[in-house]
Amino acid sequence: MPPMIRVENLVKRFGRTTALDRVGFAVEAGTVVGVLGPNGAGKTTMVRVLATLLRPDEGLVRVGGLDVTREPARVRALLGLTGQYASVDGDLTGTENLVLFGRLLGLSRPAARDRAADLLERFELGPAAARPASTYSGGLRRRLDLAASLVGGPRVLCLDEPTTGLDPHVRRELWQVVRELVADGVTVLLTTQYLEEADRLADRVTVFDAGRVVADGTPGELKRRVGGRTVQVRPALSQDMDATARVLGRVTGTTPARDPGTGLLTAPAADPMVLSTVVRKLDQAGLAVAELGLRLPSLDEVFLALTGKPAAPEVPAAREGSAG
Ligand SMILES: Nc1ncnc2c1ncn2[C@@H]1O[C@H](COP(=O)(O)OP(=O)(O)O)[C@@H](O)[C@H]1O
Ligand SMILES: [Mg+2]
Repeated sequence: MPPMIRVENLVKRFGRTTALDRVGFAVEAGTVVGVLGPNGAGKTTMVRVLATLLRPDEGLVRVGGLDVTREPARVRALLGLTGQYASVDGDLTGTENLVLFGRLLGLSRPAARDRAADLLERFELGPAAARPASTYSGGLRRRLDLAASLVGGPRVLCLDEPTTGLDPHVRRELWQVVRELVADGVTVLLTTQYLEEADRLADRVTVFDAGRVVADGTPGELKRRVGGRTVQVRPALSQDMDATARVLGRVTGTTPARDPGTGLLTAPAADPMVLSTVVRKLDQAGLAVAELGLRLPSLDEVFLALTGKPAAPEVPAAREGSAG
């Protein structure tokens, strides 16, 4: 089966700024791709090109096999879009907003009402349906925005930083909705600055930096590419630090890194068997440990290694109650 989204050698310039510089990636139908990148990486530009709101300068972009430049109307019929900023009208109620979207998409009034009712139920917006959207909390507003993007029953959904500024609880709710859509066969492209979001939600991650794709793979592949596992040991007694480091060094064939603050010794673990060998050798040497484990690098470390920049900080505190 051909991929649902195919992007090849895509270039988009704004004057002297090259927002997208020979970007390429593909997304299989019914999967989630996370486009991860810092501010200015080109994420929104990518989404707007896919949604036929911007014309590419060079390259090929296909959605569902359709060329976005040649058949924009057919691409729009396949695609739902929610922006970084809510597109719903604050003066209208939840129901009115969804009916309006349905009417704009050419549904009859009864069909638009049915569709609105289905979506309000699905997104648990029922109790808020009769209130103007301007009175909604940030999380409710984002759910209404997502519901609005689904009125046309899209096969492909583009979500541009859908959870930026949402508190972690609302963020998880939105992830759940995305998972349900994917279970129904929808293909999702989601941009994010949050590594945890890409890690939890995306089947594949494409990392953008300054308009270029700097890495592409499953979250696990990206972690492995940047660095293997490390074995970590914390001696129970601080006076055992040197002796423990020697054992760890012999087993891994490296010089372990020491963190005097935490008392943790760290060394690369070429294969997972290293752990059991370390346990045995420490036991033979009569050295007790307070902590021992293998760990994969975090996506944070991956991001830093790939882009030279730290990822976005954690989400700011909840802003429930502010409608904008
Ligand atoms: N309409 C525009 N006119 C001029 N420059 C733009 C425009 N849109 C985006 N850019 C520039 O393109 C680059 C990528 O922007 P954008 O796609 O918004 O990144 P992101 O969404 O990853 O933060 C930035 O340097 C930005 O300033
Ligand atoms: Mg953006």
